[in-house]
Amino acid sequence: MRTLIVGANGQLGQELQATASQTKNHIELIAPKLERLDICNQTQVDSYFAEFKPALVINAAAYTAVDQAEQESELAFESNRDGVANLASACKAHQARLIHISTDFVFDGRASVPYKPADIAKPLSVYGSSKLAGEEALQTSGLEDYLILRTAWVYSSFGGNFVKTMLKLMAQRDSLGVVADQIGTPTYAREFAKAIWAMALNTEFQGLYHWTDAGVASWYDFAVAIQEEALEIGLLKIPIQINPIATAAYPTPAQRPAYGVLDKTDTWDQLNCAPTHWRVRLREMLNTLAKSSGNL
Ligand SMILES: NC(=O)c1ccc[n+]([C@@H]2O[C@H](COP(=O)([O-])OP(=O)(O)OC[C@H]3O[C@@H](n4cnc5c(N)ncnc54)[C@H](OP(=O)(O)O)[C@@H]3O)[C@@H](O)[C@H]2O)c1
Repeated sequence: MRTLIVGANGQLGQELQATASQTKNHIELIAPKLERLDICNQTQVDSYFAEFKPALVINAAAYTAVDQAEQESELAFESNRDGVANLASACKAHQARLIHISTDFVFDGRASVPYKPADIAKPLSVYGSSKLAGEEALQTSGLEDYLILRTAWVYSSFGGNFVKTMLKLMAQRDSLGVVADQIGTPTYAREFAKAIWAMALNTEFQGLYHWTDAGVASWYDFAVAIQEEALEIGLLKIPIQINPIATAAYPTPAQRPAYGVLDKTDTWDQLNCAPTHWRVRLREMLNTLAKSSGNL
């Protein structure tokens, strides 16, 4: 199946390429960089589809600079809303199936139990609003065969992310303060990529779903686990002090949901898969990183 991965150079895009050969189907991958396919450019999208005629499209592209988006609202909406609309329109014209990735940041974080896909979205940030607008653009595009997958707290051995930032800081400092009052679920992009392939290749999956690894954590819990696991396998040599701090002590331009745990029950049931705790997946990612000589 000829499959177009958009955002191929991002952390999820690279994991999708790395896991494509593990699917049962034969996947013919097309994975252009941003310079070759900018989803904001409708003419370029249309001519790219006319040339390559993909049957399946996975959109892992997004404007993901959450804090910078507060100053660059137009750019965020251009990629995260208009870009999605352009892809949906091209998929409709070519009868292609579209898999689109979204985020827990569409929620306001005032819940205390995991968010279900149908729960009311109320973003707190420009990034969250632009991602929600992208979901809505796809839902109202007239394209029938699509999937929206919301995820959260994604990390990988590819690209930049919280795990790699923590490892760098833990190697440089004597102590670190990490936010302890934001709760979510760390998610290894490699496992998410495998789940995406499973859902993308099964057309019984239609509409809106949630996916993260299992369990919950604060950023502080996540940082403590990163240090423990990294010390265990020699990625870090000396433990440092990690202190829990309040969000108010670490102000950022964008407001983040205090609670961003997603309910994955329906996804896991339909996939018939056993959920795996995020800490197990963290260990796997750190081992992958260690094998690539700890390249941060
Ligand atoms: N990271 C997280 O914690 C997280 C959490 C929840 C949801 N998500 C969602 O998961 C998806 C993948 O995220 P990620 O972490 O893999 O992001 P990422 O590493 O920032 O990668 C995003 C990719 O999109 C590309 N891109 C940006 N604008 C584009 C455009 N107009 N046309 C084509 N490509 C464009 C970027 O190109 P360049 O490399 O050239 O900049 C980059 O390769 C996104 O939809 C994101 O919103 C991420």
